[in-house]
Amino acid sequence: GKQPGKRLRQPIVVVLGHVDHGKTTLLDKIRGTAVTAKEPGLITQHVGASVVPASVIERLAEPLKKIIPFKLIIPGLLFIDTPGHELFSNLRRRGGSVADFAILVVDINDGFQPQTYESIEILRQRRVPFVVAANKIDKIPGWKPHPDTPFIISYRQQAKWVQEELEKKLWDNVIAKLYELGFQAERFDRVKDFTRTVAVVPISAKTGEGIAELLAVLAGLAQRYLQHRLRFAEGPARGVILELREQPGLGTTADVIIYDGVLKRGDLIVTGGLEGPIITRVRALLMPKPLQEIRIAKRELEPVGEVYAAAGVRVVAPELEKAVAGAPLYVATSEEEAKKLAERVRQE
Ligand code: GTP
Ligand code: MG
Repeated sequence: GKQPGKRLRQPIVVVLGHVDHGKTTLLDKIRGTAVTAKEPGLITQHVGASVVPASVIERLAEPLKKIIPFKLIIPGLLFIDTPGHELFSNLRRRGGSVADFAILVVDINDGFQPQTYESIEILRQRRVPFVVAANKIDKIPGWKPHPDTPFIISYRQQAKWVQEELEKKLWDNVIAKLYELGFQAERFDRVKDFTRTVAVVPISAKTGEGIAELLAVLAGLAQRYLQHRLRFAEGPARGVILELREQPGLGTTADVIIYDGVLKRGDLIVTGGLEGPIITRVRALLMPKPLQEIRIAKRELEPVGEVYAAAGVRVVAPELEKAVAGAPLYVATSEEEAKKLAERVRQE
């Protein structure tokens, strides 16, 4: 977002789940649907994240207006994708540490798998509220796809035995598993109290069925229960280093998720390193160039003067080669404050 002032920031939504269950396809679908709606400029790419603005969410959820009426006051949602491979538990944990909310993606046919359990454990430890996307409903035997249609509408068009097949898989592979772990869970349209019950939204990231409900449930939950957390402070930034990367000519740079405040070029920052806290100054901030085409893997980065929470940004600064991924990143307003923050980082 660009507008400073008193406002709510975008909730940070991390997408977690077992390898191949469809996390990246889901995010591509959400972005792609918005592009098809001829509003590519509205989806802003961040480093390691993407923001879907409220106007797009409202329009995608338009067919549901009679079922879930809502007007969004949050400016949008910032999504962070994570890999499901077992080797990347560090990235899943870091994603969990900045998340306001999570989408746990579970292949409805494959059910709970090792990284599904691991993801839930991360969310439980961090107390991150989550919804479950029960993905790949298009692979249920007999399912007749209705592309980009709300789940409820497509479900009504299915044969009775297909509906029963879905209900059985939803129960056996998802809801019963959540109960076993001590969570109360229901299909989203049967949930009475979203603060006590995990909502499960059947979707197909491939056909787009159910995406409308998933976004509506997420956005609705976010603005109902997180408003106090989302108040955007215009003060010094706070964030977390997601990844460090070597960049020719720039040295070690840090991909950072900013969850509060403003980060500016020239800011004095404090972060964590292997040999203790690091105090340094931001030399440059890099963000992906806005593009009309969304499906471009290698996106060029360009320098920006400042970024507002919530955002994903690449930070260029001296001494980042000593930093560690997962460390907090704080802006200090003076050398003195930097020392205090360094002490705080040391103790974290
Ligand atoms: P990792 O990042 O490796 O953990 O995987 P991922 O969870 O991001 O899965 P990804 O989106 O890469 O999808 C894995 C495979 O499943 C791809 O071949 C997708 O095309 C396919 N896939 C994803 N969602 C669906 C779906 O809803 N229906 C069907 N039929 N295939 C899907
Ligand atoms: Mg992926």
